[in-house]
Amino acid sequence: MKKGVGFMAEKDYSKYFRPNLKNARRRGQEESRVLHEEFVIPESMKNAGAGKTYYIKTYGCQANERDGETMAGILEQMKYQPTEDMYSADVVLLNTCAVRENAELKVFGKIGDLKRIKQQRPDMIFGVCGCMAQEEAIVNRILEKHHQTDLIFGTHNVHRLPQLLEEAMYSKAQVVEVWSKEGDVIENIPSNRASNLKAWVNIMYGCDHFCTYCIVPYTRGKERSRLPEDIKAEVQDLIDQGYKEITLLGQNVNSYGLDLDNGYDFAKLLNEVAQMDVKRIRFTTSNPWDFKEEVFEMIAKYDNLMPYIHLPLQSGNNDVLRRMARRNTAESYIELVDKIRKHIPNCAISTDIIVGFPNETREQFEDTLKMVDYVHYDNAYTFIYSPREGTPAAKMEDTIPFEEKQRRLQELNEHVNKWDLINNKKYEGKIVPVLIEGYSKKNKDLLMGYTDTQKLVNVKGDPKYIGEIVDVLITEAKTWSLDGEIHE
Ligand code: SAH
Ligand code: SF4
Ligand code: F3S
Repeated sequence: MKKGVGFMAEKDYSKYFRPNLKNARRRGQEESRVLHEEFVIPESMKNAGAGKTYYIKTYGCQANERDGETMAGILEQMKYQPTEDMYSADVVLLNTCAVRENAELKVFGKIGDLKRIKQQRPDMIFGVCGCMAQEEAIVNRILEKHHQTDLIFGTHNVHRLPQLLEEAMYSKAQVVEVWSKEGDVIENIPSNRASNLKAWVNIMYGCDHFCTYCIVPYTRGKERSRLPEDIKAEVQDLIDQGYKEITLLGQNVNSYGLDLDNGYDFAKLLNEVAQMDVKRIRFTTSNPWDFKEEVFEMIAKYDNLMPYIHLPLQSGNNDVLRRMARRNTAESYIELVDKIRKHIPNCAISTDIIVGFPNETREQFEDTLKMVDYVHYDNAYTFIYSPREGTPAAKMEDTIPFEEKQRRLQELNEHVNKWDLINNKKYEGKIVPVLIEGYSKKNKDLLMGYTDTQKLVNVKGDPKYIGEIVDVLITEAKTWSLDGEIHE
């Protein structure tokens, strides 16, 4: 049976209910509001989840993971219980990622699985949210072809989950609420964090950079910073709960505070958070073009700021970087890496790289390889360029065959892996601090954790150390992990 499409009508947001690329691209001058009372659970939904379960599957980056924790927190306030079993859950949410086509294909596979579940249990609620819900074409496709979907809501509508769920439960129609343009920061949302040791803390939302290949500025809206006092209150609360590691999140943390007009920038925020009683502080992502020297001076100064920087390269060639609308050059990138190494000699550096940007020549690709060999990254996330509808790069001419792009990815990975192993080998015989998180996934007799430089270590030792930062002697280095034993 084909459902109609219903829209929430209690607020005058109607023009933003369906995703709209034109609105998503626009950046207005209006102020972002910071709202401390916007999230409410209607009386009628306060016990809606009693005796019921929920399942959330999150794809994509930490921003999405954090949103997943928020949705879990909201559902638990309505008394839903988590389950690992998608097939029996009363509420299933797919929290999606739109950054590359293969992320989207995975989601459509899952949406297909949900068809059968919905047929067997028509009363369950199935929702699609996250970045794909912000895409006009995707939402239209789901509405037309995937009628098992009860609810679609966007990244700016997470705090409206109780109201949307209620509408989905009682409406015969598919409920869609996607605001394409949103300037608000909602502060009073609950959350149920995935870990009790490590926590993500958003310091800002959105992105105004519009790199030509990237969909994120359209799916996440304009850049807006949280107030320092709200960030510090969240960090303090995490410290009080015993959290050991905090990762400050933003699409480009170096832009933090630019929209606040209160003199705050990222270095100043780091300076204040570092003085709080938290053992480990990380941040991601910091883009190369506006990386201020004060930031690595802070890392050098404070022991609890971890010596690890994720510094997206994307390409080592200036023409490609220009066409990507990245604001740095290969030369300025090298200058930055040299400065980091000078200030923080033990700093690990990781990166993101795209191969096969439209019409990237072999020579241009080789500039990327040269950069990898110059920086010798500790870790690199490598991708084949994936055209994203609505972005400028998707309209660029591209005559490079996909097979050639695959070959380049493989060649790049060989360089990256070579340096991974060489860098890891330097750890053999050293004693390094590791935050022991739990049992190793591969071998339950071992523990696992990360070094301050974000290297995964499988550790021989007493489980009583779970949750502690301990000295570990590294016995063997592999390409993607280290082996070690607790040094008592
Ligand atoms: N704000 C972060 C990036 C978030 S997206 C930053 O600027 O670093 C994470 C990574 O996905 C990007 O760094 C880029 O390498 C990759 N990526 C983004 N769009 C892509 C596309 N269309 N095709 C392939 N990779 C892409
Ligand atoms: Fe995308 Fe560029 Fe923004 Fe990163 S800085 S999210 S790559 S547009
Ligand atoms: Fe994906 Fe959205 Fe993050 S597109 S990478 S989940 S911001």
